[in-house]
Amino acid sequence: MGKLKFVLIVTCGSILAFSFNVKYTGIQEPWKAPAAADTLVSPYLIEPLTLPQGQEIYTIYCASCHGHQGMSDGTATNNLKVKPLKFQDKKVSSQTNGAIFWKIREGRGEMPSFRDVLSDEQKWQMVEYIRDISKPYEEQLNPLKARH
Ligand code: HEC
Repeated sequence: MGKLKFVLIVTCGSILAFSFNVKYTGIQEPWKAPAAADTLVSPYLIEPLTLPQGQEIYTIYCASCHGHQGMSDGTATNNLKVKPLKFQDKKVSSQTNGAIFWKIREGRGEMPSFRDVLSDEQKWQMVEYIRDISKPYEEQLNPLKARH
């Protein structure tokens, strides 16, 4: 076999195997928001109803995959190819609010884009809510928090 043919076969094989992995086993690049996302800042005040309203939206739109306390133990989590990181994970908690907002807006793979589903105000409420449920239960500030 010629050298070129061999190289071609190996290259195509690797590309195929890689795409197969991405599609069927969920192996993929870590999800990083672009640097510009870090400059996004909420224009909304944090009010007494921010967390209870956030909880309402989160329960409807997010808990099935992320779990009520953000522990990736929702009713649908086991059906996902890519299991989301727990929100308590340093890899999530160390991100800026802007990056979290950006990810909720854009989505990736099985994580839906909430660009048109939630208003910007609701998306920022999600950021606050995720921060709150990432704290130990006793320290969470949501007056309506419920143990799950
Ligand atoms: C159908 C399942 C599903 C639903 C519903 C869902 N997510 Fe996700 N979410 C995912 C998956 C899967 C990932 C990981 C995506 C990746 O890394 O490619 C993710 C990632 C994230 C991340 C990024 C975490 C990181 O790795 O930095 C945030 C923030 C997030 N979701 C918030 C939300 C919020 C808020 C809602 C509801 C408004 C929501 N998600 C609804 C499946 C879901």
